[in-house]
Amino acid sequence: MIRRPSKNILGIETSCDETAAAVVRNGKTVLSNIVASSLQEHAQHGGIIPEIASRRQLEFITAVVEKALLKAGMNLTGIDAVAVTSEPGLIGSLLVGISFARALSFALHKPLISIDHIKAHAYANFLEYPESRRKEIPELPAVALVVSGGHTNLYAIKSFDRFRLLGRTLDDAAGEAFDKVAKILGLGYPGGPIIDRLAKEGENTALRFKSASLPETHDFSFSGVKTAVLYHHRNRKQQDHFPAAQTAYAFQQSVVSILTRKSIAACQKMKTGTLLIGGGVAANSALRAQLGDEAKKHNITVHFPPMSLCTDNAAMIAGLGFHLMGKKGARRA
Ligand code: KG4
Ligand code: ZN
Repeated sequence: MIRRPSKNILGIETSCDETAAAVVRNGKTVLSNIVASSLQEHAQHGGIIPEIASRRQLEFITAVVEKALLKAGMNLTGIDAVAVTSEPGLIGSLLVGISFARALSFALHKPLISIDHIKAHAYANFLEYPESRRKEIPELPAVALVVSGGHTNLYAIKSFDRFRLLGRTLDDAAGEAFDKVAKILGLGYPGGPIIDRLAKEGENTALRFKSASLPETHDFSFSGVKTAVLYHHRNRKQQDHFPAAQTAYAFQQSVVSILTRKSIAACQKMKTGTLLIGGGVAANSALRAQLGDEAKKHNITVHFPPMSLCTDNAAMIAGLGFHLMGKKGARRA
């Protein structure tokens, strides 16, 4: 058997509030995964302030890349290519990562690979498999649901350079809806993890909200359920029927059930038995439980990344970068 030489890809991610760098070998083995975040500074404003995010990224990026190399036990000469998030994201933040990656690639004479952040969230499912679990690595073709703070996308994936967008949200993203509902309920930012925790105390409620089903499409809409929560909460203040935990539970149920239903339907339509979930909302415990149960009933294998790879990180960027190196779809950043 001919053994191909290993390829070490340095990934850089600065699309939102994180400054992240990682080294991944052959698209599989995470040698290092460093994430610095300015989230605490934004939390007091109830949302991301782009100016603060990009300033911090400028301050952090050199140290974060150095730390990623150190942790991986190599210096820059050990890197075979640089992969960087080129879209979507906050423009000032993206620019920090792209400029840094471009300069590195130029100085090292190594390829630069531009990566779509949303597709990389789906790729997070292919990382972190020790030798004993190699059989569990997902198979393509697959359907992927990426649920983050800015996007809710359903893809059909044939290969790592062939993602077809099946559907998306027409208004708020799933994570955005969690954040806005948390704000309505006065719970803090980011709302997803807080609602996830609080909802567990509100399970015994008859309260229900409906998410738009947009039949015959793979699209989503979450602005209706968010508004329903707003009106309900205003009335609640007067009547005090349902505590916030029950509202959080009913809202979460509504979002989780539509995400589950539409993901299973997309798998059936594409005739695939593999479903990949990615993005910050993939950390949601109710989504993990409900999708797990429903997928089993439909003979579908559902994959969730480890918690540390659900939210923004550079390992997913480096991992997808390995597969796009030298491919037609890989544009220079
Ligand atoms: O993927 P991500 O880290 O950043 C973006 O690319 O947007 O996703 C962040 C989003 C936030 O809206 C956050 O509230 C949500 O993911 N999130 C969750 C949970 N953890 C994070 N939503 C629901 N349940 C969670 N446990
Ligand atoms: Zn993300």
